[in-house]
Amino acid sequence: MARINEHYLKLKAGYLFPEIARRVKAFQEQNPKARLIRLGIGDVVLPLAPAVVRAMQEACEEMASEEGFHGYGPERGYEFLSSAIAKHDYASRGVEIKTSEIFISDGSKCDSGNIQELFALSSKVAVADPVYPVYVDTNVMAGRTGEILKSGHYEGIVYLSATQANHFKPSPPEEKVDVVYLCSPNNPTGSVLTKEELQTWVHWAKENDAVILYDAAYEAFIQDPNLPHSIYEIEGAKEVAIEFRSFSKTAGFTGTRCAFTVVPEEVLGKTQGGEKVSLNQLWNRRQSTKFNGVSYVIQKAAAACYSALGQEQIQANIKYYMENAGLIREGLASMGLEVFGGEHAPYIWAKTPKGLGSWDFFDELLNKYQVVGTPGAGFGPSGEGYFRLSAFGKKEKVMEAIERIKKG
Ligand code: MLT
Repeated sequence: MARINEHYLKLKAGYLFPEIARRVKAFQEQNPKARLIRLGIGDVVLPLAPAVVRAMQEACEEMASEEGFHGYGPERGYEFLSSAIAKHDYASRGVEIKTSEIFISDGSKCDSGNIQELFALSSKVAVADPVYPVYVDTNVMAGRTGEILKSGHYEGIVYLSATQANHFKPSPPEEKVDVVYLCSPNNPTGSVLTKEELQTWVHWAKENDAVILYDAAYEAFIQDPNLPHSIYEIEGAKEVAIEFRSFSKTAGFTGTRCAFTVVPEEVLGKTQGGEKVSLNQLWNRRQSTKFNGVSYVIQKAAAACYSALGQEQIQANIKYYMENAGLIREGLASMGLEVFGGEHAPYIWAKTPKGLGSWDFFDELLNKYQVVGTPGAGFGPSGEGYFRLSAFGKKEKVMEAIERIKKG
């Protein structure tokens, strides 16, 4: 028999969202008449913008003709999409990103999970606690950690506390760290880093020769024009940061799949012998070996997000979800719960009532009110005592969920 990668056995239980789905399915089997309202996983519910669908249809038509047919695409993605990204997402904010620094992919989950392959197994990795579980789990799978400790932390990872005390914004570590994952607007807490706070991180990374893996998948939900959408709005960030962006939540592509990662030419790693190596080249090598790109049709659909009509339609959907976020925030606060996030992010992070444990409150929401949330503990030990509700739902369902909980 083939030996397995035993690092997988260190992972606790299943991945968070399938674990929730498993519990929900068991509940449904026992309560077939229950009308569930799902505000757990952040999955969009509104249909794709008409401008996006139109572009997809046109691309399909092209593919049906000899002249318009496309086989394998360019390894970093089509120029029409990367140049639209460079112009609309970066140049518009005063940031110069070359198309050769943009890698189109099928998701930020894959990219933020795969990026750790570029770093030595001995690299010290830091994450916030709580955090999007992909960052931790993929480092466990790679063998960069020891066993899980009683505290729920993995040996070998540096955890940066993100609690109420620091407004859910971690500070740079005291000890030597090589790679840090930051997520802003944050999943799960909904906190968002200001330019000054990001500047502190960029300074720290430069002084400590560290790389920042910046997950900006939720940047489109930022409401305050003074808040940064990209880490590259901070001077010097191109030397130390890799950024992940996604069309999933921004444009309803969770099922359609399209995202991109920016790896600037300036950001470097080093060999054991101290020789500097371009991370852009390594990522290009990795992607062109293990990934064959996003289909032409989907890249055309993604590019349509940047047309004037596409923007208008997408912004209307974002507004819809942010109104939901407001309803959830107000609803929970009116019940006397302590509520965070939901102002620049589609996630609302709240303290469980009566000091209940996260999973106990998850069960209470499910059993008593047939509402599915996400237990804070699923994002790390410091998430214990909190839960997350997603604003990605139909407005009437969101309102009903709040009413049900209020009545209870
Ligand atoms: C979440 O609910 O945290 C997200 O949907 C997860 C993801 O984007 O992979």
